[in-house]
Amino acid sequence: MALPALGLDPWSLLGLFFFQLLLLLLPPPTAGEGGQGPMPRVRYDAGDPRRGLSLFQQKGLRDFDTLLLSGDGNTLYVGAREAVLALDVQHPGAPRLKNMVLWPASESKKRECALKKKSNETECFNFLRVLVSFNATHLYACGTFAFSPACTYIGLQDSFLSSVSEKLTEGKGQSPFDPAHKHTAVLVDGMLFSGTMNNFLGSEPILMRTLGSRPVLKTDTFLPWLQSDASFVAAVPSAQVVYFFFEETASEFDFFEKLRTSRVAQVCKNDVGGDKLLQKKWTTFLKAQLLCAQPGQLPFNVIRHAVLLPGESSSDSRVYAVFTSQWQIGGTRTSAVCTFSLSDIERAFKGQYKELNKETSRWTTYVSPATSPRPGSCAAGPASDKALTFMKDHFLMDEKVVGTALLVKSGVEYTRLEVEAARGLDGHSYVVMYLGTSTGSLHKAVVSQGGSAYLVEEVQLFPEPEPIRNLQLAPSQGTVFAGFSGGIWSLPRANCSVYESCVDCVLARDPHCAWDPELRVCSLLRTPDQISWKQDLERGNPEWACAKGPVGRSRRPQSRPQIIKEVLVVPNSILELPCPHLSALASYRWSRGTGTVPEASSAVYNGSLLLLPQDGVGGLYQCIATENGFSYPVVSYWVDSQDRPLALDPELAGIPRERVQVPLTRVGGGAAAAAQRSYWPHFLVVTVLLALVLSGALIVLLASPLGALRARGKVQGCGTLPPGEKAPLSREPCLQPRKESRTSATDVGAGNSCVGTEVA
Ligand SMILES: *[C@@H]1O[C@H](CO)[C@@H](O)[C@H](O)[C@H]1NC(C)=O
Ligand SMILES: *[C@@H]1O[C@H](CO)[C@@H](O)[C@H](O)[C@H]1NC(C)=O
Ligand SMILES: *[C@@H]1O[C@H](CO)[C@@H](O)[C@H](O)[C@H]1NC(C)=O
Ligand SMILES: *[C@@H]1O[C@H](CO)[C@@H](O)[C@H](O)[C@H]1NC(C)=O
Repeated sequence: MALPALGLDPWSLLGLFFFQLLLLLLPPPTAGEGGQGPMPRVRYDAGDPRRGLSLFQQKGLRDFDTLLLSGDGNTLYVGAREAVLALDVQHPGAPRLKNMVLWPASESKKRECALKKKSNETECFNFLRVLVSFNATHLYACGTFAFSPACTYIGLQDSFLSSVSEKLTEGKGQSPFDPAHKHTAVLVDGMLFSGTMNNFLGSEPILMRTLGSRPVLKTDTFLPWLQSDASFVAAVPSAQVVYFFFEETASEFDFFEKLRTSRVAQVCKNDVGGDKLLQKKWTTFLKAQLLCAQPGQLPFNVIRHAVLLPGESSSDSRVYAVFTSQWQIGGTRTSAVCTFSLSDIERAFKGQYKELNKETSRWTTYVSPATSPRPGSCAAGPASDKALTFMKDHFLMDEKVVGTALLVKSGVEYTRLEVEAARGLDGHSYVVMYLGTSTGSLHKAVVSQGGSAYLVEEVQLFPEPEPIRNLQLAPSQGTVFAGFSGGIWSLPRANCSVYESCVDCVLARDPHCAWDPELRVCSLLRTPDQISWKQDLERGNPEWACAKGPVGRSRRPQSRPQIIKEVLVVPNSILELPCPHLSALASYRWSRGTGTVPEASSAVYNGSLLLLPQDGVGGLYQCIATENGFSYPVVSYWVDSQDRPLALDPELAGIPRERVQVPLTRVGGGAAAAAQRSYWPHFLVVTVLLALVLSGALIVLLASPLGALRARGKVQGCGTLPPGEKAPLSREPCLQPRKESRTSATDVGAGNSCVGTEVA
């Protein structure tokens, strides 16, 4: 029944013709997202089972913006719109609701809010903005409360939320009015340090200290300490001071356009405010420029988020921050991650001040006579009037704090980050960063000992792009939580079992994963004392790390396959041999035996090898990946025909084999019965183009009286094409397999599935 495996009959010629046309017309596959900066080694689309995400949602609740992990790490408190929730996150998988309390804005405030032309459907609600652990029995929470910020205490009982205190307090300066405005707050020694917008219009930024026994302190709105657009993104406490990270319009540079700049500000925890001057105001407010840049490039001047990674000693502590640039280059955003050492920040605040020359409106360096105590230092007791007068005008430091760029990446906008240290098998501590993007994906980045970061993976959380609002890492569970408009995603920080071989496990360079040679699996590294396990974070060299495994047995540049997939040739069908591209950092090529694949009857499309079966097509086909200077077969196929089975290469003896079915594309005679899956549109295009070309030629020929005779000949020539040729234009034959079409029983048996299957 089946045709001989390709002679020179018209069907095969037609098949070959179509094959070549198809290759010409295939769209260029995924034009690699070039751009600058490291590529994530592996990408997972939303819903990919290899990176199983769990989703927590609660009917009727939205905007899961504020996250707080309990001290024991087992409960995640969540501030959503008009509600606070306690979630059990002790176990892997989706967080479970323990309980929740509602805290809606009052009806009267909602009415007022709507009267002030704010939306009663999207804005006039209580958006939770501050959620901190106040003491063992209470959380402290603040929300926008329908553009009228308010704060309250929420009782706790065994980490269940018991009640919302009826007594509300004024939340101005702690929570913004507008949910769209930035804010930050941190509770230190029972005092809440917050930075946000202090008015309805969002034109008056404030740094404030509330709660605790010390006086409430604020920034002075009549002094130009903060520009009116200052936007706070993070607050980090240190031994004596609290640092605030924000961005604002820079006033100290002469620049033709509005220049934004990132800043770090400090206030002393023990500040008590001035006596006559600066009453109830900070007397220790200082700010300095933060610089995150790469040589020869515009600086990344807009800070988006910052976190502290405490070191063994306070001088090792570092701040990690994500930045974007105010300028877009080539229509895409570029983001950067920079790290700043706390001691550099401290040094800047101990250096010279800047001073504004009132006549020229220029900032100059103020060469300070040494005074003691130094203005702005955290010396105990009230400062002298002289020192306070000085502080009013000298709040900008001369020295800038220069960060180290760990990662610069174009085409993404990082919005949040979380950072942890992970100890590798080599005994070194590696900084792991989880970076949330404005389109809802999460990058896992690792900082190598050399100081640059590489991206282990990218996990797309949302099917539809949407920004990640907040990230929270639960280190004891190894879970990353991401709050967004509709709920909370939780993602294990690693799934080592996606790396199926030692080679892949080592090349991944994930500090959380290592190869267990006994169980022959890539496993989560819980303690770094698994001495027999394999990992090579610095070099990612599997030849070295997997030396005792099957890979290292040969000194050949490429290793033996672990399994061979057997594929049978089906007449008149293009075989599609898929090759999963496990790593975006590898380059892939196909080999046949020890040589290259013949070009006339094959093509690589989207990683897969398309093979047109011809005489002598059989043999070993391997997709070889080369990564980090190391080559290994990703997949190996033994292509064979049923009629004339090939003898197996003795080199390959002993390797397990499995018979597989690969996607087929029917051409020639088969096209009538089995259209194919993904190439259908291309066939359509081919056919339409063919028709256009032929009719174009026809018109040209008919227009020329001399050619008229010849034209008839051409038209007839066209008419002699087999009837099956028209088939791709219509799906009908799929539904009604024609008896006369010469295809094998299985092909017709595939019926209306329209997908050719291999004859087993
Ligand atoms: C991890 O990956 C394996 C293999 O791809 C998959 O079967 C498993 O479901 C994944 N687990 C999680 C938690 O995503
Ligand atoms: C918002 O106000 C409009 C008119 O003022 C009203 O029709 C609508 O029902 C209100 N929506 C909500 C959710 O209260
Ligand atoms: C915690 O703070 C709340 C609110 O100020 C107070 O009522 C409660 O007594 C405090 N609890 C403890 C254990 O200090
Ligand atoms: C490329 O291959 C991948 C899987 O190997 C598949 O998901 C994707 O749809 C293919 N793209 C095209 C354009 O065929």
